Formats: sequence, C-alpha cells, structure tokens
Amino acid sequence: MIERKEYARRRRQLMRMAGADAIVIVAAAPERVRNNDAHYPYRQDSDFHYLSGFGEPDAVLALVPGREHGEAILFCRERDPERERWDGPRVGTEGAVSQCGFDDAFPIDDIDDILPGLIEGRRRVYYHFGRDTEFDLKLIGWVNRVRALVRQGAKPPHEFVALSHLLHDLRLYKSRGELRLMKKSARIAAAAHVRAMQATRPGLSEHEVEAELLHEFRKHGAVPSYEPIVGGGANACVLHYRANNAPLQDGDLLLIDAGAEVECYASDITRTFPVNGRFTAEQRALYEIVLAAQLAAIDEVRAGRSFDAYHQAAVRTITKGLLKLGLLGGTLEKNLREHAYRKFYMHKTGHWLGLDVHDVGDYRIDGEFRVLEPGMVVTVEPGLYVAPDAKGVPAKFRGIGIRIEDDVVVTGGAPEVLSADVPKDVEAIEALMAERR
Ligand code: GLY
Ligand code: MN
Ligand code: MN
Repeated sequence: MIERKEYARRRRQLMRMAGADAIVIVAAAPERVRNNDAHYPYRQDSDFHYLSGFGEPDAVLALVPGREHGEAILFCRERDPERERWDGPRVGTEGAVSQCGFDDAFPIDDIDDILPGLIEGRRRVYYHFGRDTEFDLKLIGWVNRVRALVRQGAKPPHEFVALSHLLHDLRLYKSRGELRLMKKSARIAAAAHVRAMQATRPGLSEHEVEAELLHEFRKHGAVPSYEPIVGGGANACVLHYRANNAPLQDGDLLLIDAGAEVECYASDITRTFPVNGRFTAEQRALYEIVLAAQLAAIDEVRAGRSFDAYHQAAVRTITKGLLKLGLLGGTLEKNLREHAYRKFYMHKTGHWLGLDVHDVGDYRIDGEFRVLEPGMVVTVEPGLYVAPDAKGVPAKFRGIGIRIEDDVVVTGGAPEVLSADVPKDVEAIEALMAERR
C-alpha cells in the first residue's frame, strides 16, 4: 500500500517543479466499453493514480500551488445511494478530503463552473495534450472562458506545457513503497510461472497453461499486467503472439511471457522451457546463449552505467554464441558492427518497468543514453528466435524461440532481481519439471 502521505509528497514535489504560477491538470481514465453494455475492467490512468491513489473514473485532479483554500483539488463523483446500489460505493467529495487527503474537493458536475476560476491568473498550464481528445476540448473550453473575460481584468494562461517531462521523470525513480509493491507483483508472477511449468505437458493446449497463470494471479488478488503470451514451438518466434490456443507438442519449447499487476504496479517475466521437461541438444545450445546473455546483461544494471550498456552486453554475448554455434560466420567485431545478430534477435534488451509495463521516462537526455541511477527498474529480456523458414540455418535449429526476462532494480550496489523466484538454469528447470505428477 502506498500511504496517503506519499501521494501528498508526490503532488508537492510536482508543484515545486511546475512553479508557483502554474496549474497542473490530470484526468482519471474514462471507463471503456468493450461491446454493447459490457465494459473493459477499469484501470486507473497511471499518472492520475501516481498523484492521487484515487481509483474511480469521472475525476480530475487540479494542483494549484499556493492556493489559499488548498492546493490539491479533486473533482469527483458525488455520493449517490441509488447509483451506488448498482455500481458500488463512491468516495464522494467529503471522503476525498477526509479519507484521501486532498485539500479540497468538488463535484465533477461542477467542474465547468469552477476550473476556469482556478486557471485564471495562472501563467502556465501543465497537461497531457492529445491523450484524450474529448478532455482536450473541455480544457480548451475552460481556457476560452477565461479569455472571454480579459476585458474584465481576467488573466488567461500564456503557456501550455506537456506534463510528461516533469511527471515522468518523477515516476522513473521508485520509492521504497513502490519497490515493495513491485516485489510483490514479481513474486506473484514468479509463482504463476512456476505453477505453469509444473502443469505443462504434451497434449495440453496453450490456453490451459494460460489458465494456470491466471489462477495464480487471481488467487493473490492480482490481475495480468498485459495479455500473457503462451507460445509453444514456433509460436514463440511470433514476438507478440496472443492466440494462446495451439496444442503443445512433445519435443517443443514453450515460451511464456506473463506479468502480474498489484495496486497498478507491473511485473514482466518470461521463461522458456521444454514441454516434456527435457531440453534437446539444439534447444539447450540456444538456451545457454540466451541465458549467458541475460546474466551478462543483468550484471550491467548498475548505477553509473549507461542504459544502453546492458543491451550491448547481451548483443555481444549472443553474437559470440551464434558464431560458436555456426549460425553466424566471420569475426565478432564485424558481426557486431553489422548487427548480424538482428536476424535472430530483433528487439532491445529491456525497458523501464513501473506503473506501466513499458514504463514512462526518457531513455536519452540530449541524444545520449541516460545513466542508470538507484531506484530505476528495468526488464532484462534477451532472446533468440530462429524463424521456421530461416535461410542458411540447419533445420534442427529452425522454429526455436527463446526469451528469458527478469525485473531488475538499480541499487547502490549489486543489481536486485525481483523475479528470481522462478528458475532459469537448465538443470533447475528440468529438476522442477521432473517433480510433475
Ligand atoms: N511483455 C511485454 C514485454 O516484454 O515488453
Ligand atoms: Mn515481457
Ligand atoms: Mn518486457
């Protein structure tokens, strides 16, 4: 649980960065219709959640530094016993102040009358332009209401600034409370991967293994942080495979990329293992390359190293391995220079992880890769994918797809792997799978 005072601290920090003459406006995520009267499961907007911890739709947060009657203002739905009988309890404006710690709260239905008055006299508006067209239009309407009163002395804002620069830099550095939740999220996902390994056997369908993942997530109150990828055999070579409905074949590998979400914080784990519990020689040869690349990369996730260093470590290890195996020819340096590995390894080695699976934050500053700092969390996920129709590759390697992905915290010292509870050594995987009944 993130405490009330941590949300308040984030809001204060953002206001300090925005300046005394600014206003910050952030909207809650809208509810989204899936089809006819059925909705997608509601997921709060990550930025709104980060600043408010408030879980309802139809809400807007306004941060107004120095405002006498309170700086952090929430517009939200009012209590409504009739509606609450259908949709469940609402916090309401009084609860927003007494339970959630906002300085002031107003009914969302009154926002058109109140927000222009909060914008008036502020020089800069910080806002996510272009994220929600409907809300963009409302904001333009509120600003125009202020402009219309210029001759009466109203002072409209002069600058409109993208909120992401400030806010997403804050989100990049995880607090102790956030790291606790991310560890919990990774533990649940790791348990789900272990359960999936133990359930897998030839003849099952990919969706039956997916069900094991979902069972473990929900048992612990988590939801998937993205649609799980459960790809047997050559399906593992489809990077965003989502069908999850093919039978699992004896002798194939199974790639599972699945993460949990706990109080909006994501984990993101991939493991690849044999459907029948034993790697073949070819599978093992490729697997050991990916594992060596992943371990080399994790070792680069240290404060002071460039964000790109761990990708380069993975690429170098993979290229060496492919040369040794004969899937690439020539010198190491020439292959690296020409990115020859891209035929088999076509994605980057990782991304920021946090409230979003592909979390926010710039990867470069002034064109240069950013330097890792304590509190940042990344995934480390090298892979090898030999397409079923790959040219110039011995047939025995074709159709093998492997990825190994862990969640790693940059600390003051050694990298901290949040997802270490699920085995990735060949021996450990085979031992775990040998326990299957
Ligand atoms: N599961 C999404 C990713 O690995 O980036
Ligand atoms: Mn993943
Ligand atoms: Mn990932």
